[in-house]
Amino acid sequence: MTNPAAAALIARSNRLGADPKNTNYAGGNTSAKGTETDPVTGEPVELLWVKGSGGDLGTLKESGLAVLRLDRMRSLVDVYPGIEREDEMVAAFDYCLHGKGGAAPSIDTAMHGLVDAAHVDHLHPDSGIAIATAADGPELTATIFGDKVVWVPWRRPGFQLGLDIAEIKEKNPQAVGCILGGHGITAWGETSEEAEANSLWIIDTAAAYIADNSKTEPFGPALDGYGALPAAERAARAAALAPTIRGIASADRPMVGHFTDADVVLDFLAAAEHPRLAALGTSCPDHFLRTKVKPLVLDLPPTASVEESIARLQELAVAYREDYQGYYDRNAVADSPAIRGKDPLIVLVPGVGMFSFGKDKQTARVAGEFYVNAINVMRGAEGLSTYAPIDEAEKFRIEYGALEEAKLQRLPKPTPLATRLAFVTAAASGIAKAPAAKLAAEGACVVIADLSLEKAQEAAAELGGSDVAVGVQVDVSNEAAVQAAVDAAVLAFGGVDLVVNNAGLSLSRSLMETTEKDWDLQHDVMAKGSFLVAKATAKVMIEQQLGGDIVYISSKNSIFAGPNNVAYGAAKADQAHQVRLLAAELGEHGIKVNGVNPDGVVSGSGIFASGWGANRAAVYGVEEKDLGKFYAQRTILKREVLPENIANAVFVLCGPEMTHTTGLHIPVDAGVAAAFLR
Ligand SMILES: NC(=O)c1ccc[n+]([C@@H]2O[C@H](COP(=O)([O-])OP(=O)(O)OC[C@H]3O[C@@H](n4cnc5c(N)ncnc54)[C@H](O)[C@@H]3O)[C@@H](O)[C@H]2O)c1
Ligand SMILES: [Zn+2]
Repeated sequence: MTNPAAAALIARSNRLGADPKNTNYAGGNTSAKGTETDPVTGEPVELLWVKGSGGDLGTLKESGLAVLRLDRMRSLVDVYPGIEREDEMVAAFDYCLHGKGGAAPSIDTAMHGLVDAAHVDHLHPDSGIAIATAADGPELTATIFGDKVVWVPWRRPGFQLGLDIAEIKEKNPQAVGCILGGHGITAWGETSEEAEANSLWIIDTAAAYIADNSKTEPFGPALDGYGALPAAERAARAAALAPTIRGIASADRPMVGHFTDADVVLDFLAAAEHPRLAALGTSCPDHFLRTKVKPLVLDLPPTASVEESIARLQELAVAYREDYQGYYDRNAVADSPAIRGKDPLIVLVPGVGMFSFGKDKQTARVAGEFYVNAINVMRGAEGLSTYAPIDEAEKFRIEYGALEEAKLQRLPKPTPLATRLAFVTAAASGIAKAPAAKLAAEGACVVIADLSLEKAQEAAAELGGSDVAVGVQVDVSNEAAVQAAVDAAVLAFGGVDLVVNNAGLSLSRSLMETTEKDWDLQHDVMAKGSFLVAKATAKVMIEQQLGGDIVYISSKNSIFAGPNNVAYGAAKADQAHQVRLLAAELGEHGIKVNGVNPDGVVSGSGIFASGWGANRAAVYGVEEKDLGKFYAQRTILKREVLPENIANAVFVLCGPEMTHTTGLHIPVDAGVAAAFLR
């Protein structure tokens, strides 16, 4: 049964975490102290429940809490070796744990345990950090809060900060909390309600003071020509720049992207002071660990052409990497971890918006959210005073500190298709549902493009929601529609690097029965459609300079000749030769082009369900429901071909093993000698 103190803590944390004004995503931590019966002695034991490393307050559950024996945790004070070795104390927390399970204790555990109050909140509210990063933060704290909130000069999160805050609480019995310079706030209370009320009072009082006292243009006057483009132009410009920007962010390792054109970003970029402020970088450790110390800012107005913008972005990328190397070289010491990549995680484009990057979609999205937090912080600080973030040496000590390095080492190994951005046509139903699901399961972000937007979105939702898959509308036979779908894909995940040309349809008709319209339709969807998709996506891939894969779902019928198939078979043969032609042409960009030749995939196939199956069954004199089994008996392996078998072939072609193969077709037909490739 959950201890009442822990239950109150979880409820309070969920309330605090649900409102973004109180803390950033997964930022901050909360705790409660209480008594339970020790199962070993039968005696009462004092415990500390504290949010563990990594979790989010808004969704905190009991499993996200670390549970420590308070007496043992506080005994650490006697063995604390001093600030130079304070990181060692994090490992010591493991020796204070009560029972098993629960989350790993975070670096802030000392603050929660050592402060003498039953409930403690440590939060990263934009309003509080604005005061914490104002050049005259100590004076502002006194003016705004009197003696109820105490200023604590910047100190890295750790055991010493916990000791400092415990002492402040002891020496200031009238205080309800403190402003942590450069970082955030901490508040406390004897009950959960009191701690929550104190946290909210600090956050809201700071916000109200900023609202009432801020200068009217905290970011300076409007910059001529830097205003936001109209929404449609903004989206078009963002899509045009995104592949280049993703390439820049992925020079050292491939990244997934996120784009936002929220007003808060556009307003910041439209004002005169944005270059100076962006260069100062973010301050709260949570912020800069996800955003890097500073963003890359395009120093051209949106009136510049796409070509000029791309050329300038490339120059700025070189400068960014040099600058980051300089930051590393200035601050690294003998036992610092190796440099982790010099590319920006945040790229700001005036008039257009913000691109943010991460190892997966959620990380990329959250990096963007944190930069919005940082913009709010800068607005508050500049409105009252001057924004003065912590200095770069301190940022480096956290970014390349032992604890951060250990956290990164503990991350699970990336999945085989992590960071790959897939675009699969006609995957809302039919056999391509399986490849889309397989690519997502192996870590790719998937765009499902289908004739029906609604079905595409449903299929995407089944794969796990917008951090995994999104649905877009496309008619692959229409060039403008293909471009719009590819633009939507690029805005959803930052680019494209894995394409499955699957859309198709089959009309089984003899030469005499085949009309001009039949011929055109099948060629428009399959031959022309895959050409248009290949053209639009290859352009993105070339701009990204990250290589890529294009896979055609061709057919046994691209090789095999039989009656009643002239239009379909010829369109499939066209697709099959596109594979070879494009493999030859796109290889210089690292783009592999391969094909899969399925046959007899009855299960899940709309082609079979909508007439072709009945027709084939009649031709072969079997019942339609037995067609799959009938086809199986015609094969060499006597196996029925399922959509999963197609999915596996697509995965192999694009996966990490098949790096040296292009221009290949893989038959997935359970063995049909007449369709052997030679
Ligand atoms: N099922 C098989 O045995 C088999 C064998 C060989 C090849 N194929 C090929 O596999 C692919 C998928 O076939 P399936 O069996 O899943 O059939 P299906 O009918 O279930 O799927 C084909 C999909 O293509 C979509 N489509 C048609 N025209 C489109 C357009 N203009 N724009 C966008 N999408 C469009 C349809 O909406 C449908 O969702 C096709 O290219 C087909 O030729 C299938
Ligand atoms: Zn913090």
